[in-house]
Amino acid sequence: MNLKAHIDNDIFHLIGNVADTMNIDAYVVGGYVRDIILKRPSTDIDIVCIGSGIELAKQVAQTLPQKKKVSIFKSFGTAMIHYYSLGKDWQIEFVGARKESYRRDSRKPIVENGTLQDDQNRRDFTINAMAISINEQTFGELLDPFDGIYDINRQIIRTPLDPDITFSDDPLRMLRCIRFATQLNFSILPETFEAIKRNCERIKIISQERITEELNKMLMSRHPSLSFQLLDRSGLLKIIFPEFVALKGVESVGEKSHKDNFLHTLQVLDNVAKQSDKLFLRWAAVLHDIAKPLCKHYDEKTGYSFHGHEVKGSYMVEKIFRRMHLPLNENMKYVQKLVFLHLRPIALVEQVTDSAVRRCLFEAGDDIEDLLILCQSDITSKNILKKQRYLSNLRLVQKKMKEIEEKDRIRNFKVPVSGEEIMEMYNLTPCKTVGILKDAIKDAILDGNIANDREEALKFLDSEAKKLGLKKKE
Ligand code: CTP
Repeated sequence: MNLKAHIDNDIFHLIGNVADTMNIDAYVVGGYVRDIILKRPSTDIDIVCIGSGIELAKQVAQTLPQKKKVSIFKSFGTAMIHYYSLGKDWQIEFVGARKESYRRDSRKPIVENGTLQDDQNRRDFTINAMAISINEQTFGELLDPFDGIYDINRQIIRTPLDPDITFSDDPLRMLRCIRFATQLNFSILPETFEAIKRNCERIKIISQERITEELNKMLMSRHPSLSFQLLDRSGLLKIIFPEFVALKGVESVGEKSHKDNFLHTLQVLDNVAKQSDKLFLRWAAVLHDIAKPLCKHYDEKTGYSFHGHEVKGSYMVEKIFRRMHLPLNENMKYVQKLVFLHLRPIALVEQVTDSAVRRCLFEAGDDIEDLLILCQSDITSKNILKKQRYLSNLRLVQKKMKEIEEKDRIRNFKVPVSGEEIMEMYNLTPCKTVGILKDAIKDAILDGNIANDREEALKFLDSEAKKLGLKKKE
């Protein structure tokens, strides 16, 4: 097969010509070739040559119209050029064909050079092991020893070699396999999947950063639940994310039972994914009920309940983020906040007072829309009537929130008198009283007892301070 038309541009001709003058064979290989066939646009190009990838990169950089810096990773035998052309930022990585397993981020130095076939043998999946020649004579010729094209057409993920070898070369590939299956909506060949089951314990030797990077990619796919189903069935999930597996199962006593919180969470995650591309909103969906197994309680009269799971869950977020090497910054705080508040909008339905709505707006702040997406996604009842009732109640709450926000501007609300001012006015040093007075003003505004206005706040402060026996400075 000739794929010339797909790579017929200055970049590939230039690299091919340089390879010709160096008298070496060069190919574009891996994900870029896969994505050409899948018609997925990509700007990450991997070039493999039968010789020194670093030398080829250096010569290419010299020949480019705009002279370019080459980043060289000597012990890995790779070199990288960033190049702007054809309206895009290209990342071109060069490597010499090798006999041992290929991993871009491998810490192992390369030892032995190999042929193209050696190199293709040690790649992860047949769909990622195709190469296209870029030397002038053979420009565009596809080299596909494992029928990657056929696997793309039948939508199958399969390893080129015995999967036990491919996965033990780099156990992260078990996660890559599930991630590709989800992203591309492909099936995993049963023998390949069986090998993941057999080798799942080996994931323990992989760094958490690499694991989390894959989890994030899975979460960002169109139907992220697919990944988690496969991770669970393969045995990987209980190793990398035991809290998630703990959500599985239904318990019942007589007529009373509770839903399977694992399946429910997956449904919520897919619902959120339909409405938002925000990675951390998807994490909030994964974690919203994470504390349920720890908060489960059975009562003969009322059945099962999970009181306090939103509070406990928001505490668990930090522990999980730490272990997963996810950022412990405002993104984590955002997830904690959403987990903590995820029941609030629905609870408002029962008592949709202005003051309760103001408090919810105040606590959610600018994340109120995301909270409402999570909350709406959390309505997964199979009972259509019940579901419709919840949804229409939630719409009511939303309407009320809009009205109150327009009127009172609560979501970015700050108490109109600062702690420093209170200290100055009443001759106080930093102490509990300052906090009490500030909270009293905040509550009075949120409860609607005074307007969100500095003058009213100062008047109110005066009366509160008097109650505490404080004297105002003259
Ligand atoms: N590769 C591999 N084993 C790995 C990682 C990568 O064999 N653990 C090979 C595959 O041939 C892959 C190529 O290196 O196609 C490039 O890797 P990378 O850029 O990480 O992945 P892509 O396949 O391009 O896909 P994505 O960018 O979505 O990760």
